[in-house]
Amino acid sequence: MESLNRTLLTSLMQREQKRFVEERPKSKALFERAGKSLLAGVPMNWMMKWAGAFPPFVREAQGAHFYDVDGHRYIDFCLGDTGAMTGHSPLATVKAVEEQANRGITLMLPGEDAIFVAEELQQRFGLKYWQFALTATDANRFSIRLARQITARPKILAFNWCYHGTVDETFITLQPDGVARARSGNIGPPVDPSVTTKVVEFNDIPALEEALAAGDVACVLAEPAMTNVGIVHPEPGYHAALRELTRKYKTLLIIDETHTICAGPGGFTRAENLDPDVLVFGKAIGGGIPGAAYGFTAEVASRIANRQNLEDCDVGGIGGTLAGNALSLAAMRATLSNVLTKEAFDRMIPLAERWTAGVQSIIEELGVPWHVTRLGCRAEYLFSANRPRNGQQAHDGMDFELERFMHLYAMNRGILLTPFHNMALMSPQTEAADVDQHTDVFRECVRELVA
Ligand SMILES: Cc1ncc(COP(=O)(O)O)c(C=O)c1O
Repeated sequence: MESLNRTLLTSLMQREQKRFVEERPKSKALFERAGKSLLAGVPMNWMMKWAGAFPPFVREAQGAHFYDVDGHRYIDFCLGDTGAMTGHSPLATVKAVEEQANRGITLMLPGEDAIFVAEELQQRFGLKYWQFALTATDANRFSIRLARQITARPKILAFNWCYHGTVDETFITLQPDGVARARSGNIGPPVDPSVTTKVVEFNDIPALEEALAAGDVACVLAEPAMTNVGIVHPEPGYHAALRELTRKYKTLLIIDETHTICAGPGGFTRAENLDPDVLVFGKAIGGGIPGAAYGFTAEVASRIANRQNLEDCDVGGIGGTLAGNALSLAAMRATLSNVLTKEAFDRMIPLAERWTAGVQSIIEELGVPWHVTRLGCRAEYLFSANRPRNGQQAHDGMDFELERFMHLYAMNRGILLTPFHNMALMSPQTEAADVDQHTDVFRECVRELVA
């Protein structure tokens, strides 16, 4: 944000860092201990990204809140970046998991829960056949492999600044010269991703057609609205064109609903009547227990079946010993039946509307050139006055330094946003008072920034 006083921002950040450290001696001690056994003191590399000098170590979480080891209570709008969109430890899921844990956790054999969950997913998304994986990343990877196999085409198409998990083919962005190359931060790519992937901007229909026309693209992998570079909504008519062009050039359309499930119980697909060939849904599907599902139309399923090879089906690149395990299917059954219900969305979406209205009112009151946007029960503010049309515009509106300050300021006042961009998600147990507290803290923060 160009008009921002960077000197002021730096001094406010220093003040907030000092407060964060002083108020969290137990987290600090754990972080120091962790540094002796965990790489960079964290169990997973992206946990370094939290805005404080170290991450707050968690004592316990319940519903929309958690406590750190120093006794601070947080309103959790990050919710495990969607993995805990159900609220932490939803009762029905916990009960089912407890029961299943006593009756066998993983067998490599099916139980009735698998059929129940597949039938539920049929109802929600309209796709006929389902398979399970442990993560949305795997569900995407497996879908891409199948797409390449049945179309006998080498490439996939992804959107600029998309994120679909740690899927090698997707770590590629359009560079300023218009050429697609490995995205910054891409760690040890197995091959140059331009060999595997074409990249176009979201909402750019002519570029999409040009990329598909060569006839070498097996599938388009798309979030129906981008959510990982801030929220980028599809423009009117974009999904109709995407579907028409993928059909015209015989490219499969994979819709990744892992985040856009926030649009409702059937995700964006059901809310907007999309008609994908393949659909992926991970993260929240098991209430936080690892699990993901991917589904196909009957036509795609029969093309897959035609190529199935019994002898080698376990070593073909689609697998996972623990995929489809009894525990994760029990969690999915309970979560879909009792937690991520229509009634829950009817509560969560108005809360996101309230969050959005609160942030919007402060943007107007204090005259900052930002905007706030929403998709179902997910909302996000971006540091640009206008809604981005595509990933590049959204990325250009990002401000890492400012983002970190906003996150740290919020954390010091008991509010957790995602460590990536400025996203807030509502759970079935989030309260209006939680949302209003965010609005108050946001006001104070912006007031200090523009002082
Ligand atoms: C849209 C989307 N798909 C897939 C994934 C991958 O999920 P996971 O990291 O659980 O494999 C993510 C992760 O953020 C995502 O945002």
